[in-house]
Amino acid sequence: MVEFIVASGRSNKALAEKVVKALGVDLAKTDIHNFSDGEIWAKFEDNVRGDDLFILQSTHSPADNLFELLIMIDAAKRASAKRITAIIPYFGYARQDRKDQPRVSITAKLVANLLTRAGADRIITVDLHSSQIQGFFDVPLDHLYASTVLIKKIKSLGLSNLAVAAPDVGGVKTARSYAKRLDGELVVVDKRRPAHNVAEISHIIGEVKDKNIVVVDDIIDTGNTFLNCAEALKKAGAAKIIGVCVHPVFSGNAMERFDKSEALELMFVTDTIPLINPPDKIKVVSVGELLAEAIKRTHDNRSISSLFEIER
Ligand code: R5P
Repeated sequence: MVEFIVASGRSNKALAEKVVKALGVDLAKTDIHNFSDGEIWAKFEDNVRGDDLFILQSTHSPADNLFELLIMIDAAKRASAKRITAIIPYFGYARQDRKDQPRVSITAKLVANLLTRAGADRIITVDLHSSQIQGFFDVPLDHLYASTVLIKKIKSLGLSNLAVAAPDVGGVKTARSYAKRLDGELVVVDKRRPAHNVAEISHIIGEVKDKNIVVVDDIIDTGNTFLNCAEALKKAGAAKIIGVCVHPVFSGNAMERFDKSEALELMFVTDTIPLINPPDKIKVVSVGELLAEAIKRTHDNRSISSLFEIER
């Protein structure tokens, strides 16, 4: 019988531990370290020949996280694993997913090429920045949605008079799906990007006065999009503002700015990217059990579509 084995790179060991705990197995023993110049070395300590191998690694910055995953896939391929599934809870370099100006790279496609060329037979990931990235892969890709765990948390707050806001036009489909499941109105905030990492709000479309508003985004990087949106909604008369974000990139002092924001009451994020000492205002919800279930079903060749059903 083909066994399944779960290994982890070093970028999100805490999540990998949660996944194996939910599966009732141990993480595969690996030896991963850096040479003195920073180059990465990785070895599977035990035999993986003929195994159904799952390697978990989030590919947030630095790019070494991505490179470490590629090295692990290459090591597994050369060690004759039967099937290699890369579990990438946060798929980095996803925001450049099209040529939006001349002479730029489509990094999401480049990363997809690298992963498959290294030897990944399939991919499991959570909330891709845009759904079309699935088509950048010529191997099967399962796209899970953290909304399955996040919606429960929002519901547990028992908020009434609710609206769900998309902080930019790109987030409308996701916000609409949350609004439907939370039985709330949809609000759209019109954001412009005059330069990289700069977010300017020009209009709010929808009813916000005295509403409790859930702002939903896939990624928080500098926090400018989210915090500007929360402030604009507050100015327009919103009651409580609750934040929901799948991938807490939180670069620079973003976490501190969220903690200090007067507009934002509470924020739910997931553990696709590990956070060091988040403040009380930022609650981390784990996708560990969701990924564990996806591994079990993938190994057993059972459908996992119920894990990623979402109305779009
Ligand atoms: C943009 O399309 C994404 O969904 C996020 O809104 C964006 O990446 C957030 O970036 P920042 O936090 O730097 O404004």
